[in-house]
Amino acid sequence: AKICFMKEDRVLCVVEGADGQSLMEVAVANGIPGIVGECGGSLVCATCHLYVERGPVENLSPRSAMEEDMLELADTQVETTSRLGCQIVVSRMIEGLVVRRGDDIE
Ligand code: FES
Repeated sequence: AKICFMKEDRVLCVVEGADGQSLMEVAVANGIPGIVGECGGSLVCATCHLYVERGPVENLSPRSAMEEDMLELADTQVETTSRLGCQIVVSRMIEGLVVRRGDDIE
C-alpha cells in the first residue's frame, strides 16, 4: 500500500509498503528522517512516534494499552493523533495513509 510521509506541512515522499510491514519498518527502509525504530518494534523506545494526519484513519486498529504507556514516556509531544509506527501494520486497508513527523521529535 502507498503511505505518505510528511514533515511539517511538506510531503516528504510517498512510498510503497509491503503488506505485513510496520510503518516504522517502511520509514526506516526508505530513510525517512526522524523515525528511528531503535527497539526494532518491541514497544520499548517510542522513537517511531508519528502523527496520523489523514487517509483511511478509521481502518487503523486502536492504540493498545502498552502503546499508550510507551507514548507517555516519549520525549516528544503526544497528540490525539499520535501513534507508534511499529504498531501500525501495512495492508491495503490503509492505502493512502498520511503520517507526519513533527520538528520537535527529531
Ligand atoms: Fe520502538 Fe516502536 S520501534 S516503540
